[in-house]
This record gives sequence, C-alpha cells and structure tokens, in this order.
Amino acid sequence: MNPLLHIHETPEDTARALAGLILVKANEKKRLSLPLNVALSGGNTPRLLFTILVQEYSETMPWHILRLFWVDERCVPPTHPESNFGMAYENLLKRVPLQGEHAFMIQGDAQPEDEVLRYQNLLETELPTHEGFPQFDLVLLGIGNDGHTASIFPGNLRLFHSEMAVVVGIQPGTGQKRITLTGSTINQASQVVFFVTGASKSSVLRQIIENEPGSEKYPAAHVRPVSGTAEFFMDKAAASELKLTK
Ligand code: 6PG
Repeated sequence: MNPLLHIHETPEDTARALAGLILVKANEKKRLSLPLNVALSGGNTPRLLFTILVQEYSETMPWHILRLFWVDERCVPPTHPESNFGMAYENLLKRVPLQGEHAFMIQGDAQPEDEVLRYQNLLETELPTHEGFPQFDLVLLGIGNDGHTASIFPGNLRLFHSEMAVVVGIQPGTGQKRITLTGSTINQASQVVFFVTGASKSSVLRQIIENEPGSEKYPAAHVRPVSGTAEFFMDKAAASELKLTK
C-alpha cells in the first residue's frame, strides 16, 4: 500500500482536517452544479467528525450538495443503539439542513438478503457506474483493531473481492449480520479516506501502511482505489508506530 498520510496532533484536529476536505470537495461540486456522493462508515470514530461538522461547518457547508450513503449497517432497526444510521442521525442529520431525501440509509431492520439487493439497486440508480460498480465521490472508512473495514472481517476476504457491489457480512464475535459495500465498490470510488484515531489502532495501522508480512490478512490492506491511493487521516496516537514519521 502506498497511502497518503495526514497526521494531526489530536482526534479533533484530525476530524477538523477531514471536515475541511469534505468542504473543499462539496464546493468543487457546487461550482459544477453536481452533487457530492459520500459513503459514511459507522462505529465510534465518525461521531467526532459529525460533531465538528455541526459545530464548525453548519453555516459554510453547502449541505444541499451532499448526498449521504452508508458503507455498512448493522442488521438492527435505526433506533437501535448499534445502528450506524441512528448514530449519524442523532449526531449529524437532525442537526444540519440536509434534505431527508439526500440521506440514503441502509434498512437495517429489513431481511438482509432482500436489503442487499434493494441497496445495490439503489446505488446503481443513484450513482454513476465505473468498471461495472457504483462509484462514490468519497468513501470514508474506519479500521477495526483486527484490520476489518466496512463490515468485512479477516477470514472473509472473498467478500471484499466479491463481484457484487453489496453483500451480507458477519461480525465474527457476535455473529451479527451486516449489510456492507464490498471492496470492489469501495475501490472504484474517486477518493477513499480512512479516518483513524487512538493508540489502539497504531499496530494494525503500522502493519498495513508499512506492508508488513502477514498484513494481507487484513481487509483494510486491500483498499487500493483504482483512482489512485488510499488516504489516512490519523491523529499522532494512531500514527505512533509508523517508521515513516520518525
Ligand atoms: C462499523 C464500521 C466499521 C468501523 C470500524 C472502526 O459499522 O462498525 O463501519 O468498519 O469503521 O469498526 O470502528 P471505530 O471507529 O468504533 O473504532
């Protein structure tokens, strides 16, 4: 992997830099009278990005340009505490003037195999296609300590390289079903950004970014956008084991 690294002092500074990137991209699209199609990941880290967007970008972001999709969703109702959409709604969507029809949720409470087809059809309708897959302008990813990304976990790399755009993933610890973009879709995006903070991620990040032997077992190591290179927005704690920064 030959990634582009953006390393900042604190998680807040990192989230602020990422929000700034989104603003630049949204304004570029605004000048072209085009939407900015963004796929959001879930988990905890994005919460900080949402807070910065609400507190510091409410007035400047051209919210009518943004069309938000999800990288993955837990197969739970949107009101469930583990819902990625629910977390985004509480921390971002209900706090900014983004039209409801521009938030394309994955229906976590639908029958998983049906939802895979519905969401895949929606992406094919709402997004341009590149190399046969729906193409996002920007995909925001996290990384688990185990090197998973989206809802594709180690041991399930076949899902990453699926010829489908969307599949059902399984969280190995709990068996929880999840709807997730495949790596085939992620890698077609115009830009792919990892947003990773905290010392707990420093080891897996070092292994992936420095292409250490064995890192190929991590799904996140297979994120290689056809458009160029993956980018990492990290705080110093997450980047603390990287030799590149020494
Ligand atoms: C999910 C995410 C997942 C997440 C990582 C990191 O639905 O859980 O899409 O891929 O990005 O698990 O999660 P944290 O940000 O909580 O560390």
